[in-house]
Amino acid sequence: MGICLMKRQWPWLLHVLVFFILINRIRAISPDGEALLSFRIAIVSSDGFLSQWRPEDPDPCKWKGVTCDSKTKRVTTLSLTNHKLSGPISPDIGKLEHLRLLMLHNNNFYGAIPSELGNCTELQGIYLQGNYLSGLIPSELGNLTSLQNLDISSNSLSGSIPPSLGKLDKLVTFNVSNNFLVGPIPSQGVFSNYTLSSFVGNRDLCGKQINVACKDDSGGATTNSQSPTSAQNPAGKKKYSGRLLISASATVGALLLVALMCFWGCFLYKKFGKNEGRTLAMDVSGGASIVMFHGDLPYTSKDIIKKLETLNEEHVIGTGGFGTVYKLAMDDGNVFALKRIVKMNEGFDRFFERELEILGSIKHRYLVNLRGYCNSPTSKLLIYDFLAGGSLDEALHERSEQLDWEARLNIIMGAAKGLAYLHHDCSPRIIHRDIKSSNILLDSNLEARVSDFGLAKLLEDEESHITTIVAGTFGYLAPEYMASGRATEKTDVYSFGVLVLEVLSGKRPTDASFIEKGLNIVGWLNFLITENRQREIVDPNCEGVQVESLDALLSVAIQCVSSSPEDRPTMHRVVQLLESEVMTPCPSDFYDSNSD
Ligand SMILES: Nc1ncnc2c1ncn2[C@@H]1O[C@H](COP(=O)(O)OP(=O)(O)OP(=O)(O)O)[C@@H](O)[C@H]1O
Ligand SMILES: *[C@@H]1O[C@H](CO)[C@@H](O)[C@H](O)[C@H]1NC(C)=O
Ligand SMILES: *[C@@H]1O[C@H](CO)[C@@H](O)[C@H](O)[C@H]1NC(C)=O
Ligand SMILES: *[C@@H]1O[C@H](CO)[C@@H](O)[C@H](O)[C@H]1NC(C)=O
Ligand SMILES: *[C@@H]1O[C@H](CO)[C@@H](O)[C@H](O)[C@H]1NC(C)=O
Ligand SMILES: [Mg+2]
Repeated sequence: MGICLMKRQWPWLLHVLVFFILINRIRAISPDGEALLSFRIAIVSSDGFLSQWRPEDPDPCKWKGVTCDSKTKRVTTLSLTNHKLSGPISPDIGKLEHLRLLMLHNNNFYGAIPSELGNCTELQGIYLQGNYLSGLIPSELGNLTSLQNLDISSNSLSGSIPPSLGKLDKLVTFNVSNNFLVGPIPSQGVFSNYTLSSFVGNRDLCGKQINVACKDDSGGATTNSQSPTSAQNPAGKKKYSGRLLISASATVGALLLVALMCFWGCFLYKKFGKNEGRTLAMDVSGGASIVMFHGDLPYTSKDIIKKLETLNEEHVIGTGGFGTVYKLAMDDGNVFALKRIVKMNEGFDRFFERELEILGSIKHRYLVNLRGYCNSPTSKLLIYDFLAGGSLDEALHERSEQLDWEARLNIIMGAAKGLAYLHHDCSPRIIHRDIKSSNILLDSNLEARVSDFGLAKLLEDEESHITTIVAGTFGYLAPEYMASGRATEKTDVYSFGVLVLEVLSGKRPTDASFIEKGLNIVGWLNFLITENRQREIVDPNCEGVQVESLDALLSVAIQCVSSSPEDRPTMHRVVQLLESEVMTPCPSDFYDSNSD
């Protein structure tokens, strides 16, 4: 009996012993290690890089991404770039008193920059760019007197730049580009040394560093007042179609990027606004000629010009980044859409015609047909097929009840095929550059057709080669596109992913409900993923949602909006995935969001 008892007690005692040893070892980890462990606890997903951080180690000095001072064993560097880390940055990071270098860039961190960072007074470099950080820039950063490099660009930071940062007299590089910052750029201290490229891509900054006069002039600005704040809202119909204008000078070599996150038309209204604009009749009266592709338009030039002269405000069906669209109804009952682009500069004609020739040669079931163009001395008129269903933008945001699950899938499929055709089957390949819901048009059967492909490139300013008008709405643009202004097939794939999310959610990419949280639709998705709630992105008013195809579609969209272009699939692959995983509905397992 006694022996039996002993045998039973042994394992129990052993457990207790092991437990105490463990507790002791956990207790034994240095305070810096403890701070890093709570930093890790706050992270909800990653590529697994942090799994090697073991709580039982005496200090974190051998952990991946961590460097310590060899004598004091205090953490001096935390470098976790590009590891898909998602979650908030724990305020406990402020306990790393001897931290000199913090590199968390190109991850999916969201939430605020912890003000506790202001406690790490030895910090020399902070790199947080390329995340989804939101909220204000903590003024406590002004306490970091050793700071030499601060890069918090490409996040969703809002508010103004705290004047306390002007005290950082050792600061060499400073970058707050591509955020949602507003207000005057402080002019005191080191701030007088920074130039435009530190501030590009913010909605509403002003100050002499960027040559934008502040409204109240407290920033002490200069003459050139191309302030995005002077944006106007001519009709107030569409709300969130901001525009990004990238322009740069080859000689200076500086990239000037001004994000105009404004109501549509702010840029165009000034340039081509009604008050100073010419009428269409004036355009075509002075020696205009019509070029028709493939004899596609069964009319004479004269017929068309006569018709064009009758067009006026009543025939306008929309206004976008490049001009105004009119409905052109011919006498035989055929209807076309006429896009009028006011000529932007000289020396643009030959290039324009060459490009148009290419665009006019592209025919595909899921692309809007360009029928011809009218080359008038004062403007360019493009003649497209008219699509009776209007744009997906209107369909989704003004009459979404007509779009059930099946219709939405079908639209996504059509848009994917159209885009895949441009990327993979055209020669030369065509990057759309402006994928968004207003450029997906619908026919009367709600079949999608991609429109305006190639236009963004066409309307680039040819003379200064790196001057680009990035014609896309803010929320659709891939992070690397915002940073460089360089479009690739993969930047289109990103925009397509955003489009899928828009179709699923019924919300515009920069819907106020996302902006309130300091996010856009991709940031919101990333947040939902980390909570494993991504299905919640679906529009509750969408009928007939089918869970399996939803999951498959979400997985495609998630890949498309990946922050690094290499992780995004090609459009070819997207079409394959949609066909094999999404469009093969499984008749069981219906999920009706309206029931229960
Ligand atoms: N071929 C067409 N058929 C029917 N409606 C059209 C056609 N083309 C354009 N539209 C309508 O005109 C509106 C304005 O189009 P437009 O292309 O000028 O602007 P946008 O698509 O919002 O922006 P962008 O200039 O970047 O393309 C569209 O939203 C759509 O409703
Ligand atoms: C930061 O410093 C303040 C004041 O010195 C202190 O109250 C706070 O606890 C510190 N926070 C962290 C995370 O160390
Ligand atoms: C840090 O900065 C904040 C705000 O800028 C200030 O109130 C605080 O006194 C500073 N703390 C130290 C220790 O300098
Ligand atoms: C601006 O930069 C110059 C050299 O690049 C430096 O000497 C000067 O101190 C800086 N000005 C401020 C206010 O930091
Ligand atoms: C700031 O970052 C942007 C990209 O977000 C880049 O285009 C710009 O050149 C950077 N500016 C400086 C001064 O490093
Ligand atoms: Mg368009």
